Amino acid sequence: MSPEATTVAEVLSSPWKIDGLTIKNRFVLSPMAVLQPTKDGHPSDQTIAFLTTRARGGAGLLIIGGGVATERGNQEAPFQPLMRFDRDDFIPGLKRMVDAVHAHDVPIFAQIFPSFGAMGVPAEGRPTLAASPKPVHMGAPRLPHGFYIPGGRTNPTPLEITKEDILKVQDQTVAAVRRAKAAGFDGIELGAHMRYLYSSFLSPRTNWRIDEYGGSAENRARILTDTVRAIRAEVGTDYPVGLRMSVNDHLPDGQGPEEFAETAAIIAKEGLGYIALTDGNYESMDNNLPSSSGSMLEHAEPQAFRAALPNTPLLLSSTYDPQQSADAIANGHGDGIMLARQLLADPEFPNKVLQGRLDEIVWCDHDNSCLRRLIFNVPVRCHKNPAMGREAVLGGVKEPVSVKLKRPVEAALIAATGSPTLMGIADKLASSKSKASKN
Ligand SMILES: Cc1cc2nc3c(=O)[nH]c(=O)nc-3n(C[C@H](O)[C@H](O)[C@H](O)COP(=O)(O)O)c2cc1C
Ligand code: SF4
Repeated sequence: MSPEATTVAEVLSSPWKIDGLTIKNRFVLSPMAVLQPTKDGHPSDQTIAFLTTRARGGAGLLIIGGGVATERGNQEAPFQPLMRFDRDDFIPGLKRMVDAVHAHDVPIFAQIFPSFGAMGVPAEGRPTLAASPKPVHMGAPRLPHGFYIPGGRTNPTPLEITKEDILKVQDQTVAAVRRAKAAGFDGIELGAHMRYLYSSFLSPRTNWRIDEYGGSAENRARILTDTVRAIRAEVGTDYPVGLRMSVNDHLPDGQGPEEFAETAAIIAKEGLGYIALTDGNYESMDNNLPSSSGSMLEHAEPQAFRAALPNTPLLLSSTYDPQQSADAIANGHGDGIMLARQLLADPEFPNKVLQGRLDEIVWCDHDNSCLRRLIFNVPVRCHKNPAMGREAVLGGVKEPVSVKLKRPVEAALIAATGSPTLMGIADKLASSKSKASKN
């Protein structure tokens, strides 16, 4: 950033670097599993139309959500279908998508999930695996606005992953990164957040191991230091390799930003191009999907990471207010501003901010109907932007018949779960039922 950059537009339009890649401005599409790939895991015309719409809208970097690195990851994914990186025959379809984004002169990174840990869906003969056998509990009052799980939900308890499986996942993850690079992705991001497999190692709350993967910060970081080292041996030092981390458990028995930053600094020694900061996890989802801008800065999470990692670019989440995001960058708290829901509601947000058209912005209302659709595994839509999720159809691509038929049922379900009254009744019924069964 030039020392003279003082206005919001000047700061947010300043170029910056991740490893060997220059990014033209500070706006980053945050990864979201809203891409509607084909049932068998290839990018679809809709995937491409969604991404190119955000590239045209002015984002400087796109990170695609939820790509799976392993066959296990694909089978146990809580959100279906996802884009796949677990076989070479996925490379041509991924390349078609990457080329379409590059036509807009915007780089694209692949988020890679090796396995979903305690958030995975188990099946006969395929238990979920995590650092330690700690299930995830989601429920009131730790849910985001407009999001209900009547009676709460505790996922099946995962098994402790063996060293043999850790090394197998590492090899498969490196192979997935090789495929992403071969498809032309400009960088990759490892997902170590939200109680997925890697994140379960980082906090003592979810890692009780007594082997070389548990205990000290070095040991809890080991699965990722080993994986990043192996990835670097595959892709070299210049290729962007980032890490997405939950940076604060926000739970009474959890870990805070200083402790997460200590672990991150150990992993970064192997060569991290950036760290994407994610607040909270599935058990503190109210912190993960806040309804206002800047809570991460209020919790001093970027500040703790900056102190521990002075030279590693940091991506901030949920800091969408233009003045606040420009101040955060000017003050050195972060380098890139990730936008998730705001870019569903208004793909043109970056252009509007940089061109001073603030009164034209369509603001996300944080009512989270997009998320309710995600948990019901139906195509995500945004009620503030009727074109979202339908960019290809609106551009003239024919809509698949199966999607058309589901609509009335979807609409009724999503509307019902968005009603505080209906869900309050469901919540009471669920808790009285569980009390009755205990008595
Ligand atoms: C519909 C939806 C899908 C998401 N899918 C992913 C995903 O695949 N991977 C991921 O790391 N985060 C995912 N997220 C989280 C976002 O990337 C982001 O961290 C979160 O929404 C907070 O940012 P925001 O305040 O800009 O929305 C998703 C969020 C939403 C709303
Ligand atoms: S549905 Fe649209 S407006 Fe509502 S929270 Fe999601 S992105 Fe924001």
